[in-house]
Amino acid sequence: MFHVKHEGLGSAAETLGVPLSGDQVAKLASYEALLVERAVALGLVASGDLPRLRTRHLLDSLRAALAVLPTDRDAYDLGSGGGLPGIVVAIACPGLWITLVESRRRRGAFLEMTVERLELSNCRVVVGRVESLEEPADMCFARAFADAATSWRLAVPLLRPGGRLVYFAGEGSDPASYSPEGASCEILWPPPVARAGPLVIMSRQ
Ligand SMILES: C[S@@+](CC[C@H](N)C(=O)[O-])C[C@H]1O[C@@H](n2cnc3c(N)ncnc32)[C@H](O)[C@@H]1O
Repeated sequence: MFHVKHEGLGSAAETLGVPLSGDQVAKLASYEALLVERAVALGLVASGDLPRLRTRHLLDSLRAALAVLPTDRDAYDLGSGGGLPGIVVAIACPGLWITLVESRRRRGAFLEMTVERLELSNCRVVVGRVESLEEPADMCFARAFADAATSWRLAVPLLRPGGRLVYFAGEGSDPASYSPEGASCEILWPPPVARAGPLVIMSRQ
């Protein structure tokens, strides 16, 4: 199992295979502080989870950056909540334009404040439902959003041909069981962080 000390955010990211600059680590640390301050009130994280927020949420989300290719231009974070994984990926992948989609207003307001505070120029917030989106993108992320089949069904109309949904599978789940109709699936096993399952990459034909 992969453990991390409180001050070791940069080295933890590097161990995951996502090396970050000093500026990126500083942004990630600021985001972590915002989450610690607001995530429980927003109902995003159980208070008992706060001491493990870094491993269970921040580093778990950072794993999604491993699925981003240099050719990817844009992505949606479906049901972004407090910005997981979208904000984290936006920090790690400044060349990727990310739209955070969240239907709840209070959470959307938190996302807008976070994007502004962290000066994330590659990120925007849509407060609304995923079903109302129209613009296509190269990627979608789905973490704790919906089951695999529902996530895929909602992502397909948003993906360009060859586009990919990065689906966070649950710990202990059988990745082979994630193969919604019409998706070609690949399983990504990044270094494990606490209670994380694999990432299932579902590609649109
Ligand atoms: C369990 S939370 C997970 C949030 C975040 N992805 C995470 O991993 O912490 C699911 C979020 O999806 C949002 N949501 C659910 N259905 C949605 C939809 N159809 N369109 C937009 N947001 C949706 C909810 O409001 C909620 O904030």
